[in-house]
Amino acid sequence: MKVRSEEIGKPMKRETFSTSLTVFFATLGSAVGLGNIWKFPYMTGMNGGGAFILVYLLFVLLLGIPIMLSEFYLGRKTRSNVVGVFDKLKAHKIWKSIGYMGLLSSLLIMFFYSTVAGWVYAYVFRALKGDFRFLGDMGIDEARIASEGIFTDTLSGMAPMVWQGIAILLVAVILIGGVKKGIERVTKTLMPVLLLLIIISAMRALTLPGAAEGLDFLMKADFSKLKGSSILAAMGLAFFKLSLGMGTMVTYGSYFNKENNLMGTSFKVAFSDVAVSLLAGLAIFPVVFTFQLAPEGGPGLLFQTIPLVFSMLPLGNLLLIAFFVLTAIASTTAMLSMVEVPIAILTEELKLARKKAVIITTSVMFMIGVITTHPDALFGQVEVAGKSLFDLFDYLSSNLLLPLGGLLITLFVAYFTKKESLKDEMTNGGTIGNEKLVNLYRFVLKYITPVLLIIVFLNALGILSI
Ligand code: TRP
Repeated sequence: MKVRSEEIGKPMKRETFSTSLTVFFATLGSAVGLGNIWKFPYMTGMNGGGAFILVYLLFVLLLGIPIMLSEFYLGRKTRSNVVGVFDKLKAHKIWKSIGYMGLLSSLLIMFFYSTVAGWVYAYVFRALKGDFRFLGDMGIDEARIASEGIFTDTLSGMAPMVWQGIAILLVAVILIGGVKKGIERVTKTLMPVLLLLIIISAMRALTLPGAAEGLDFLMKADFSKLKGSSILAAMGLAFFKLSLGMGTMVTYGSYFNKENNLMGTSFKVAFSDVAVSLLAGLAIFPVVFTFQLAPEGGPGLLFQTIPLVFSMLPLGNLLLIAFFVLTAIASTTAMLSMVEVPIAILTEELKLARKKAVIITTSVMFMIGVITTHPDALFGQVEVAGKSLFDLFDYLSSNLLLPLGGLLITLFVAYFTKKESLKDEMTNGGTIGNEKLVNLYRFVLKYITPVLLIIVFLNALGILSI
């Protein structure tokens, strides 16, 4: 019998997820995040609807899934964090820079992502208190100003810093529980709740008079709106949406059980993530069009338009609570995966106790995040190269570190990994018949993914623009 590489001489203490279903929920929990709610639906609407979705799916196949698989491969094969991976594979130590870049990205992203998660928590609280109810009694124009006022108010003073602290604290408490009792338990409970809430929200929206127009905006394939820039946007989105380039999927992959079908998981996660994004769009745009508002993206959509339009509906406040609860779940499970990257590095490379590693990591994230990303904070008004620190962290991570990390991971697995080893991991030692797919995956990874990534990278840096 063939002995699977991971069974030889590896520490047995390392935790894994219990079943393929919990692997799926944890990994989907990482992919589904703020991106599904404020990026994907809006970008789809503005870039040709169904046409954009087709292009997006193409990049999921050519870029998203191949990189995700490569990260899973590195993680499960070595059962290691994203720095340790390269020691285990006896690679040149220069490759370890992928891991250090991942560590840095994790910090930079968390500085601002946890800030936004804090706003989401604040909105859950406000919706529970009924703070948005009065919007429903106003005319649209008046309500728009009031909704903007609530957002500005949420962002000012000390309160958002406290909410950010609560969001990070919750992530810390879950992560101290470990892989099974922390990440697995929370994601397997909350991801089904998220899916249910988003289906309910979409169904409610689809019964409104603006449903047809909303559906049109989201789905109708209009190839004339598909410009070069939309194609680049689709590539970048496929990458960020699937949590790639910083070792998140290496780290989660290192916890996958040995029976898991890596190829199956990557397909399921990528397509379920698209489904969640589409459902988010279906929940939002019919309402927006029913009240004849202009669709917009980003924080404006989530924190101003949604409270405004949902509060106009019968039972709108309940719907608003449901929507912000699901957004809170999405951002929290995404943060778990971001923070787990440094935790795995600290516990395995520096042999810190898990609890200590969590406390140190989340404290740094909170302390730096809180003084830099709020308009009223100590360094809240500092600008670097014309960008606020909030935007700078976003720019450095999404445009520089993640695509570079993704490119290096791709090159490493495509050109410095033996085909046999890759095949062994993808077929679980020959027990599942993925052989043909492995050849296709290797081909794409060698000749297509790197070229696409270089284009994403140059575009993100502003060197190339189509
Ligand atoms: N995919 C998540 C979202 O859409 C964000 C995310 C979580 C992420 N972990 C990541 C992005 C790691 C890049 C790298 O919101």
